Amino acid sequence: MKRIRKAVIPVAGMGTRFLPATKAIPKEMLTIVDRPTIQYIVEEVVASGIEEVILITSEGKSAIENHFDYDFQLDTVLKQKKKRALRDELSKISSLIDIVSVRQKEPLGLGHAIWMARNVVGNEPFLVLLGDDLVRSKKPCCRQMIDLYNQVSESIVAIQRVPRDQTYQYGIIEGEETELDRTFKVKRMVEKPAPGTSNSDMAIIGRYLLMPEIFDFLGTTTPGHGGEIQLTDALLALSNKRGMYAYEFEGKRYDAGDKLGYLKAIVDIALDHPGLGASFREHLQAVCADKDCACS
Ligand code: UTP
Repeated sequence: MKRIRKAVIPVAGMGTRFLPATKAIPKEMLTIVDRPTIQYIVEEVVASGIEEVILITSEGKSAIENHFDYDFQLDTVLKQKKKRALRDELSKISSLIDIVSVRQKEPLGLGHAIWMARNVVGNEPFLVLLGDDLVRSKKPCCRQMIDLYNQVSESIVAIQRVPRDQTYQYGIIEGEETELDRTFKVKRMVEKPAPGTSNSDMAIIGRYLLMPEIFDFLGTTTPGHGGEIQLTDALLALSNKRGMYAYEFEGKRYDAGDKLGYLKAIVDIALDHPGLGASFREHLQAVCADKDCACS
């Protein structure tokens, strides 16, 4: 069985839900408390034991690459100013992991973005993490998936339960329970089902562990909804050919590419922040008292 060594992080999307904030700044660089969203995601990858990140980028996303790069000028200035702690922190970020970038020249969809990684990934299973999907958990979500892969040796999609009236916003899977904890064998998969057309509440989130055959299917998938190459169509084909598991990960997921999801991530992370948590909690309590909310 091949080890999981590589993680693909597509960040080439337009981020239209967050305009105008994302006109000149990639949504993955929006700050959650004290670091950009993408840093949390790369930290999850590193904590899961991955060796290489493949970023799928587009024009206007160079700030993401720069964030993980070594900045000689900045380091020299910080050295002159004797800002040791800051230098150490920046040096930690730039040496987190090896990062390779591949350009997606047109935003032809998530499926196409992943297909762009085929030559760098090669013939081995790999992880995909969406650049705006944050998961907080005791054991990193990707690590949970790798541990399951070590038992099932097949592709895995991470899922969460969502309210039935929201299933139309997600890729939904229907599956059969297995003997393994929180693990289902995928039977059907539908991208954004019309209300009332699916009995399942199991929604695919932005973490996938995929066998390299996915590239064959992505290469032959014709553009679907909105002229984009959809990942779900290729996942379904892969699942029919080899089988696939859905894993209800342990942890909490935030869609940081959506304004409300982004705000929820900020509040939860700020409340747990060692330096800010206590004061932020006091502030929230004062806000609640001020606004006469039920929680105060
Ligand atoms: P989203 O569905 O969030 O699309 O993509 P988006 O364009 O980034 O954002 P909105 O919906 O317009 O606000 C999910 C992930 O797939 C990447 C995005 O960067 C994001 O990480 N993606 C999407 C690509 O890399 N290329 C694409 O063509 C589309």
